[in-house]
Amino acid sequence: DRLIIAVDGPSGSGKSSVCRAAATQLGADYLDTGAMYRAATWYCLDQQVDLDNEDAVAFAVEELPLKISTDPQHQVITIGQTDVTEAIREPRISEAVSEVATNRKARQLLINAQRRIVDESGFIVAEGRDITTVVAPDAQVRVLLTASAEARLRRRGLQLESESGAAQSAEALQRQVLERDKKDSAASNFTEAADGVAVLDSSDLSFQETVDSLLSRIAA
Ligand code: CDP
Repeated sequence: DRLIIAVDGPSGSGKSSVCRAAATQLGADYLDTGAMYRAATWYCLDQQVDLDNEDAVAFAVEELPLKISTDPQHQVITIGQTDVTEAIREPRISEAVSEVATNRKARQLLINAQRRIVDESGFIVAEGRDITTVVAPDAQVRVLLTASAEARLRRRGLQLESESGAAQSAEALQRQVLERDKKDSAASNFTEAADGVAVLDSSDLSFQETVDSLLSRIAA
């Protein structure tokens, strides 16, 4: 039996950690589609592709030698022989990723790759910005994970702090997150739930409560 769980949401909604935990609890595969856009961006920068050149970006993504694991407890992303698991989280990638994500051809190529991964698995939690609407609109469970701007910024702050050891100024963070959301909304509308997509607002929920709420929708 196939079970596809599609989750969309903006930056800092907590979707990656929530989806990883849900997949682990279910014994399902996990796909972080944002990591694929980040990997594509890493590759473009590595190949010194001019991000303003639409065709050059599309061409690079077409030949992108990307491998992404679907183990929720062990995410490994490689490009050719290079492990980019950590490198794709660098700020230089976060700053450039929207340019790749809004490239129509590049986007279509990555969507096709994501559909293949979901199809081949058959039992997977896939998360991103357009999973409920474009990548897997026929998923059995479709959820838009939201959180108030305040809660999202709070989480981003905590997350960056724990990654780099130093807190960035709240104002700089706020600007970055809101900027990227604005750029991203040009590629896909992830702030409103499409027909048939349930909204899970995590603003006032703990991490475990959010995971449980997602899991409860699977049983239902
Ligand atoms: O850091 P954050 O969790 O907000 O983002 P992410 O999930 O790592 O995704 C990075 C970027 O990839 C987003 O800012 C979008 O530009 C793009 N993306 C997309 O366009 N469509 C998706 N399904 C997933 C990510």
